Amino acid sequence: MTIQQYQTIKQGGPFALVTAPSPKPGKNEVCIRPPAVSLNAIDWKNLLFGALVPSWPAVLGIEGAGIVESVGDGVTSFKPGDEVMNWLQRSQFNGAFQEVYTAQEVAVAKKPAALSFEEATSLPIGYLTAAGAIAIGLKVPFPGFSNANTTHEPPQSILVLGGSSGVGSAAIQLLRIALPSATIITTSSVAHHAHLKSLGASTCLERAAQQDTAALKAATPGGAGVDAIIDAVGASVEAPAVYGALKSDGPKLYSLVITRPGVELPQGVQATLIDGQYILDKEPGAMNYLSRLLEEGKYKLPLKIDVVGKGFQAIQSGLDKIPQHSGTKLVVSL
Ligand SMILES: NC(=O)c1ccc[n+]([C@@H]2O[C@H](COP(=O)([O-])OP(=O)(O)OC[C@H]3O[C@@H](n4cnc5c(N)ncnc54)[C@H](OP(=O)(O)O)[C@@H]3O)[C@@H](O)[C@H]2O)c1
Repeated sequence: MTIQQYQTIKQGGPFALVTAPSPKPGKNEVCIRPPAVSLNAIDWKNLLFGALVPSWPAVLGIEGAGIVESVGDGVTSFKPGDEVMNWLQRSQFNGAFQEVYTAQEVAVAKKPAALSFEEATSLPIGYLTAAGAIAIGLKVPFPGFSNANTTHEPPQSILVLGGSSGVGSAAIQLLRIALPSATIITTSSVAHHAHLKSLGASTCLERAAQQDTAALKAATPGGAGVDAIIDAVGASVEAPAVYGALKSDGPKLYSLVITRPGVELPQGVQATLIDGQYILDKEPGAMNYLSRLLEEGKYKLPLKIDVVGKGFQAIQSGLDKIPQHSGTKLVVSL
């Protein structure tokens, strides 16, 4: 049995459809046939700079939604025919851009029937990374998690940098679920402010405020500053003024989503680097919790999806749109 893989032949492209053996699931693995995949910033960085690609050719893609083809030993939550959505840890030929890929069971969740595959594929990585930024970086207890690491007083005022990104918009919703009375301030272009308020933001500021400590502080309760920052987009590298928004006598929590290699953590704050995988290592039920939140109507699509085309060939032109896109999640139907 064979499948088609949409391989990136070398850094910068081109892509080519290549016939490869059908994957077989290993222990605790699930093989999935995706009718839809997402396009993410990391795919674009891998294509252009080879960020996480040790050698070429390679199959890119870190998220998909599809139908379970087969399951390996030890898999208990899924069976062939189930409709699912998943994140997949990249390896050379196991990206999402192919007819069938393999995911770890822990990174797979049931797709709610009310969601299309295109909607479902837009969810996992933003959710997982945001959940890690909150539960690990900010040590906030979540209703659906074991909360092993959440002993201190949760922050009551949080600044989310890059609220209109996939991670930022997920973080706003999850913060509102975990901390119903907290003040959530976020930065994005003005066009997204109404939407971010509908997700739970208390106050939205223009992106330029990231360069202006006084403007950030003025938006905080009593002008005192915030207890915590989630940097969803690596904004602080070019906007160190954001650290001034932390309350001088507060916990100074800072969750930084890893956006590139070699990022240095700032001094004088309780800083944590966050990767999408980290929450799965600590909370193996994290993806089940996403399904539950969606089924119960407590979590909605953080960003509108933008279906940029159909078929593998639409992936290459879709990736060209990554640097310019704003406040949407790019998706390809297969
Ligand atoms: N380590 C991991 O596991 C992991 C996981 C997910 C993502 N990431 C990384 O996290 C970053 C965000 O990814 P994503 O998919 O969530 O983003 P995305 O949706 O592609 O982000 C696009 C949005 O980010 C906003 N933005 C970009 N630069 C900004 C800045 N300096 N300040 C404020 N807002 C900014 C833009 O907002 P406006 O247009 O409204 O200004 C735009 O709406 C990427 O670098 C990605 O590679 C890492």
